[in-house]
Amino acid sequence: MLNFTKKDVLKNKLVLVTGGTGYIGSHTTVELMNEGYDVVIIDNLSNSEKSVLDGIAGITGRKPYFEQFDICDREKLENFFKIYKRLDAIIHFAAYKAVGESVEKPLMYYQNNLTTLMNLLHGMVHFNIPNFVFSSSATVYGQPDKLPVTEEAPFKPADSPYGNTKQIAEEIIRDTVKVNPQIKAISLRYFNPIGAHPSALIGELPRGVPNNLVPFITQTAIGIRDELKVFGDDYDTPDGTAVRDYINVVDLAKAHVVSIKRMIEKRGKSNLEVFNLGTGKGSSVMEIVKAFEKASGVKLNYKIVGRRIGDVESVYSDTKYANDELGWKAEIGLEETLLSAWNWEKNVRAKKK
Ligand code: UD1
Repeated sequence: MLNFTKKDVLKNKLVLVTGGTGYIGSHTTVELMNEGYDVVIIDNLSNSEKSVLDGIAGITGRKPYFEQFDICDREKLENFFKIYKRLDAIIHFAAYKAVGESVEKPLMYYQNNLTTLMNLLHGMVHFNIPNFVFSSSATVYGQPDKLPVTEEAPFKPADSPYGNTKQIAEEIIRDTVKVNPQIKAISLRYFNPIGAHPSALIGELPRGVPNNLVPFITQTAIGIRDELKVFGDDYDTPDGTAVRDYINVVDLAKAHVVSIKRMIEKRGKSNLEVFNLGTGKGSSVMEIVKAFEKASGVKLNYKIVGRRIGDVESVYSDTKYANDELGWKAEIGLEETLLSAWNWEKNVRAKKK
């Protein structure tokens, strides 16, 4: 199973990226490798493809180490830790993330998202792995009382088992680092990651009908879907459609590299730090539709329909803490980001022909 041998001399810091062939994991792997880190990916390929490794190599000029197994399997994970002895950090992306599916199959979500986390934390304690970055979500805030939302905002009761796994996971991490002060953790709460690498060699690859807005838009534009349904135009927002903070996935990926560096250099303020990852700017669904049309030059077929159950009206990030304390800022604009998503969609479809 494991392809890591003694002749591999590691000069660089080594980071384990779980879920590294997934959407955000693959972009983060690229940014880590661009910054001189070595990366080993563990992914069970339940929602991604091995060919993503070629995309990563196409951009960085080298392939990350890759191990295909499920980290719910604690024995396999411990074997992995025994072989990859000197890990400097773990970034944990591997998780289920479909809100609707989590409502249908709560146990599958709790089982997978929490078992993987606990197996990793056990491994960190037993194999002396010092640094952990957790892929969390702004979903923990629900509909916040105040906008923009800061890291201090309280958790609202989760709307879905998926959201609840993110809240519980943050609590598990907090309790674990409290009694294991040798472990440092950073929880990154993502707003709405969109777009793709500018090379169009990696991007989001949803299986089946996409749940999220931008993949649905690009699939509609390319003709796989007949029309985009805009869920609700009666919200209390400037144009009536719901507002989110859409952040470029490459910007988001870079925040992970900054977080790893911060922990390795021991610059953190506490053992568990939390940062929002957003742009600070809210965009409505219709603004995204218009910006996409402008960036791509494609007219989008869309229809206004009723609200989607569980959607909040408006969420966008207060970026001050991440900007000042983490020293990271989202830089890529919305149209450029939507164009990258479009270029990726075109590239994927061209390859499938
Ligand atoms: C969703 C999840 C969130 C999760 C995130 C990442 C919900 C309620 N929230 O965020 O917990 O962390 O995905 O997977 O599902 N929209 C349309 N038409 C579509 C698709 C979306 O109008 O076909 C609208 C939505 O109503 C929403 C906005 O676009 O207002 C963004 O939707 P989406 O991309 O699904 O993200 P969130 O719902 O914000």
